[in-house]
Amino acid sequence: MGFQVCVAILLCYATNLSETPRVLRRRIRPERKSDTMATITIEVETAAGQPRHAKLERWVEDVAQMCKPDRVHWCNGSKQEYESMLRLLVLTGTAIPLDPGKRPGSYLVRSDPADVARVEGQTFICSRTKEEAGPTNNWEDPARMKQKLAGLFSGCMTGRTMYVIPYSLGPIGSHISRIGVEITDSAYVVVSMHIMTRVGMHVLEVLGPEDEFVRGLHSVGAPLGPNQPDSTWACDGKNKWICHFPETREIWSYGSGYGGNALLAKKCHALRIGSVQARDEGWMAEHMLILKMINPSGQVKYMTGAFPSACGKTNLSMLVPTIPGWKVETIGDDIAWMKFGSDGRLYAINPEYGLFGVAPGTSMKSNTNAMLMVNRNSIFTNCASTLDGDVWWEGITDEKPAKLVDWLRRPWTPDSGRNAAHPNARFTALASQCPVIAPEWEDPKGVPIDAILFGGRRGGIVPLVTESFNWQHGTFLGATQSSETTAAITGKVGQLRRDPMAMLAFCGYHMGDYFGHWLKMGKRSGARLPKIFYVNWFRRDRNGKFLWPGFGENSRVLKWIFERCDGKVHAKETPIGRVPEVADLDTKGLDIPGSHVEELLSVDIDGWLEEVSRIREHFAKFGEHLPRDLSEETDSLEKRLRAAGK
Ligand code: GTP
Ligand code: SPV
Ligand code: MN
Repeated sequence: MGFQVCVAILLCYATNLSETPRVLRRRIRPERKSDTMATITIEVETAAGQPRHAKLERWVEDVAQMCKPDRVHWCNGSKQEYESMLRLLVLTGTAIPLDPGKRPGSYLVRSDPADVARVEGQTFICSRTKEEAGPTNNWEDPARMKQKLAGLFSGCMTGRTMYVIPYSLGPIGSHISRIGVEITDSAYVVVSMHIMTRVGMHVLEVLGPEDEFVRGLHSVGAPLGPNQPDSTWACDGKNKWICHFPETREIWSYGSGYGGNALLAKKCHALRIGSVQARDEGWMAEHMLILKMINPSGQVKYMTGAFPSACGKTNLSMLVPTIPGWKVETIGDDIAWMKFGSDGRLYAINPEYGLFGVAPGTSMKSNTNAMLMVNRNSIFTNCASTLDGDVWWEGITDEKPAKLVDWLRRPWTPDSGRNAAHPNARFTALASQCPVIAPEWEDPKGVPIDAILFGGRRGGIVPLVTESFNWQHGTFLGATQSSETTAAITGKVGQLRRDPMAMLAFCGYHMGDYFGHWLKMGKRSGARLPKIFYVNWFRRDRNGKFLWPGFGENSRVLKWIFERCDGKVHAKETPIGRVPEVADLDTKGLDIPGSHVEELLSVDIDGWLEEVSRIREHFAKFGEHLPRDLSEETDSLEKRLRAAGK
């Protein structure tokens, strides 16, 4: 029995087709007489009693015609389905089970070295015109891109199963939530989507026959010939296309099986398509964590934070405060969808269901809650494995193990002179496993936001925390946000770049218009707006060492923000915004030299004047789309700096 046939049969056992009584069989008609696929029967099955959606079924059939999979499987989101997919991944050598005594229900997956992070250079916004995509996005004409992709997708699932994954972003039934369907030929995507979103046919119950849903089509781009064994990580190393069609709410992703390239609900839907829907419908789709902070007398504030990829969102969302009596609980760690309530406040939901977090640097010391969250039922990708069946990554323990198998499956010792885990190695776990998940994290109303934080990695000049003067100035802080690049993106690490609102790679339309949308939200009548702050945990001293200890100590900054929201703590006016005096920041028990705190809170006037010219350069890119309010903010900033410098 050929390997592929064997896997097919095992898959049938694994997914137990006999339990889905109503099976719709459709024969894919041959396009040409010589078409070998004519002999393959595609089974389009829908479980008994489940809602049918004619538009969806038609789309699935069209995709099957184009991609020519051997089978079509509709995902029901069950535990049984999740487990059978994992069994399949183990059988094909994609996943290895970890020692259940150490990490029950957990698996390690290693990808191909050519497929380890988002590929921004191959990510396209195919809006009607280049102008609509704006200067920060790659653009191609939608019809031309579709034509090119149709060529690639044609027959791309041969030898594979096509999975149809209906999902809800956000609690089912919330007025902020949205439905999408991802079609994929990757079982790894299926299990990841099970964790990251709410999956199953039941999500279709809230979808009326004419209702819009986001269509995501994904293929690893590696069809299998007869008897061709599958590779442990299928992808097309050289040909990746992550394409968005904002007008038709479609995503076509080809060639990569990794993270945001392949889990189309995440960056592609929740942010790129989401931001377009949000603009059209008057809400906000943002790359933000959502946290709940509780003070010693039990008062609560909700904050969101937009930091670029691998700049501390997951960590901040579940930090353990070092200041006595204060608590932080998690609502979300990556994406926030926000809508105004009838009371004029901005309410946020976390559209996701799980976390896809950066592993390196995560330890019991830096992020206890993440460590406890991933001690079971978790999927680890591109981590190293220990000889006793567990995972390891840089920073998880102070001491390096004597021997490991690295993420490329090679023997590794501390003398190997290379990382054991890939710097963008990730864990995937249900949000409900986070020990400090807030009880209201699935509240369909969302949570009312008191403060919005922007931030990034800046070795110099940007203070630990700055409060904006008002919403417009806050929008300016977000629009000028900058950060040094990280391993979350393929490319060079440590390059300073502007990353407005941490949305550089995720805004589905012209960034200048997106700034305009922010300003418009702030002018909404009756709005009771959150305060906007800018934070920087990454300022360095002359020797390149971080001045601020970060992690749990960031609670000191959050406390200042919390109390600023109530006007209970002092702030100093500076040309760049309001900054705490050393005495305003709770530094009790903080083990760093006082001079560091002073430096962290200082405003370097000359440095900022240089920054102003960089801001002007950045804004110039947006041409006429740059809202006048923002160029005026630049002028005012410069004026204040010059006055202070005299
Ligand atoms: P994405 O999932 O890519 O969006 O990343 P993220 O923004 O959620 O970043 P995450 O919290 O996973 O942190 C990324 C890296 O930054 C990890 O290696 C962390 O250990 C490190 N990090 C997080 N917070 C801090 C901090 O306060 N100070 C310092 N120095 N490092 C931090
Ligand atoms: C990010 O890069 O911002 C992530 C990881 O959260 S990914 O899902 O790959 O986009
Ligand atoms: Mn992210």
